[in-house]
Amino acid sequence: MSRRVVIVGSGGREHALALALRAQGCDVTVTPGSAGMAASGQVTITNASAQDLEADLFIIGPEAPLVAGEADGLRAQGKLVLGPGADGAQLEGSKAFMKDLLAEASIPTARYWTVEDEGAAAKVLAGLTPPYVIKTDGLAAGKGVLVTDDLEEAIRDASDKLSGRCFDGAGSRIVIEEGLLGPECSLIALCDGKTAVAFSTAQDFKRAFDHDAGPNTGGMGAYAPMPGLNEAHVAALMASCVQPTLDALIARGIDYRGLLYAGLMLTDSGPKVIEFNVRFGDPETQVLLPLVESDLFELFCQAAAGALAGAPRTSSKSCVTVVLAAQGYPEHPVKGARISGLGSDGQLIEAIEGVRVIHAGTIRNDDNDAFLVNGGRVLCVTAIADHMAVAREHAYRGVAQINFEGMHYRSDIAAKAAEGRNP
Ligand code: AMP
Ligand code: GLY
Repeated sequence: MSRRVVIVGSGGREHALALALRAQGCDVTVTPGSAGMAASGQVTITNASAQDLEADLFIIGPEAPLVAGEADGLRAQGKLVLGPGADGAQLEGSKAFMKDLLAEASIPTARYWTVEDEGAAAKVLAGLTPPYVIKTDGLAAGKGVLVTDDLEEAIRDASDKLSGRCFDGAGSRIVIEEGLLGPECSLIALCDGKTAVAFSTAQDFKRAFDHDAGPNTGGMGAYAPMPGLNEAHVAALMASCVQPTLDALIARGIDYRGLLYAGLMLTDSGPKVIEFNVRFGDPETQVLLPLVESDLFELFCQAAAGALAGAPRTSSKSCVTVVLAAQGYPEHPVKGARISGLGSDGQLIEAIEGVRVIHAGTIRNDDNDAFLVNGGRVLCVTAIADHMAVAREHAYRGVAQINFEGMHYRSDIAAKAAEGRNP
């Protein structure tokens, strides 16, 4: 059977997907992709719309096209698509939709209030204890969330979001949440419309700076698997949080085929869902896929066709990815800086065992002899090894080879996990 795959997207997650499928013998085209993906010569990029391409499987990477119904359009053409339709994608597109669904299905989550005016927001916040959590109701690339202990800052942020002053007016409605405490875990499941099967657990580092300081970002690094969570724990999380969500979608008549990403907080009173995303995580994908030993193309096709035959088999290795971000990210990323340390194939000049450079936001310069910064998250240096400590050390050795003006990254990715501790 031919194994032609089209991936929609252009970021690190899509590069990681492309590399994993390519390594298993797939013929991969990414639209629009990026120059960094094409540099290895193993992945084709095109500006053609997925509607105009032919392939055995289409994978839609980011949330925006899913929310906009791109999967529905492709399915209407008879294509095999991994990714929910617009109906299922509301789970990420609207926090209010997600919260209502979770409440309906009795899935543990933070208490919440949906608010549409500033006075009501201030009143709700004044009745809570810190940390205060304020979210926009629309898509904001992981950056629409404020978590703060400062009540005045919370009230100010709620007003800004309600006035539509940030995130392209995404927030004419906001969600205020009870603040939860505990380690976070990303649990990503593959769904075929009936059942959900899990990949390994992963942890993302959401804040911009070391020790979880600074603003929330799309994710500054990740590792997998999470120490201390065995197969039985994962099965319990699937049974309490993920499968009931899929069942609630089914009850609403939604045929959900794609990825269901549960952002969980492991609190003292048990796991609680912080959010659902309707796609693979970024940068979690960079650390989950290298651990998969099963045939990914087969698995994805089965899910897309509504007939999963089993769960992904995962190796016992560990994987770490460190995001190199542009000057000013996440608020005002500066583009254009020239990147040193990469060869013409977009990989490290001095190769390190198990290390791959994933391109998240790069372009080639006019002379075609270097890569330039072209996004907030620029590169993800990813390492796989038998042990977490080794993967972490290799990833940071890779990081040390790369430089560009204003480059910043966290130095504590997987630091605790490398010592076998939960963060
Ligand atoms: P979200 O976009 O909903 O995933 O939120 C981004 C990040 O904000 C999460 O990964 C958490 O670190 C933090 N966060 C979101 N909701 C809560 C909450 N209810 N309590 C504590 N932290 C939260
Ligand atoms: N890494 C967080 C996300 O993909 O939403």
